[in-house]
Amino acid sequence: MKTVTLSTLQAFKRAGETFSCLTAYDATFAHAASEAGIEVLLVGDSLGMVLQGHTSTLPVTLDDVCYHTRCVARGKGASLLMVDLPFMSNATTERLLEDAGALMRAGAEMVKVEGEAWMADGIRELSRRGVPVCAHLGLTPQTVHQLGGYKVQGRDAGQAERILEDARTLAEAGASVILLECVPASLGRAVSEALDVPVIGIGAGAGTDGQILVMHDVLGVTAGRKPRFVKNFLAEADDVQGAFRRYHEDVKARRFPAEEHGF
Ligand code: KIV
Ligand code: NA
Repeated sequence: MKTVTLSTLQAFKRAGETFSCLTAYDATFAHAASEAGIEVLLVGDSLGMVLQGHTSTLPVTLDDVCYHTRCVARGKGASLLMVDLPFMSNATTERLLEDAGALMRAGAEMVKVEGEAWMADGIRELSRRGVPVCAHLGLTPQTVHQLGGYKVQGRDAGQAERILEDARTLAEAGASVILLECVPASLGRAVSEALDVPVIGIGAGAGTDGQILVMHDVLGVTAGRKPRFVKNFLAEADDVQGAFRRYHEDVKARRFPAEEHGF
């Protein structure tokens, strides 16, 4: 695979070619995912749940994310490395810039931040400084206590319209990529069609430009209740590399996600 950059993702979008993304937390699995052709690796703050055993992503610290970023950076190969800003990195613009700086120094090539239209100023400041940003909308796990649980977002027309408007606002502010989590498939498609920037979905249907899953779900070691948007690709493969390859190929061929994985 040729080195994946932001320009690669933009070219995929223009060409109508979809791309695959997967979370990664260490060098070995990052290497396997990259070898399988997965274009984007995310050091997600989901590490608080799948690695640390917490019930949410809130306890994850900047140091935790930096540590896993350094590990993944050594194994990432040609894949693009995106990294999550942890809970409260968006407390102030100053903190946002400092935390993003730490992630970029650790090896991130793009940072991801949760937040609605109000994040526009912070995103503008990051992008001015040459830090590519992915804006995470829809179900934002860092606000789980306010949302009252991990629930599908944007189900009613007003809510859906607001998510679309927020995505537009953040793209205009300089977000290079939008990520939508747990929204109806119709909204995933609408946001992707409305914006020029690549839109990555998880539980957002087949109409987004890219797809992302948590690595543990792809390998069938989901702890607790299995969300409907995940699929165990190891069940149809001989080994971990085969599972990653299967996931990548199914995304590229638009075989995944299927209707049953969407809302
Ligand atoms: O932390 C994470 O793994 C994420 C993905 C689910 C998008 O943010
Ligand atoms: Na995350």
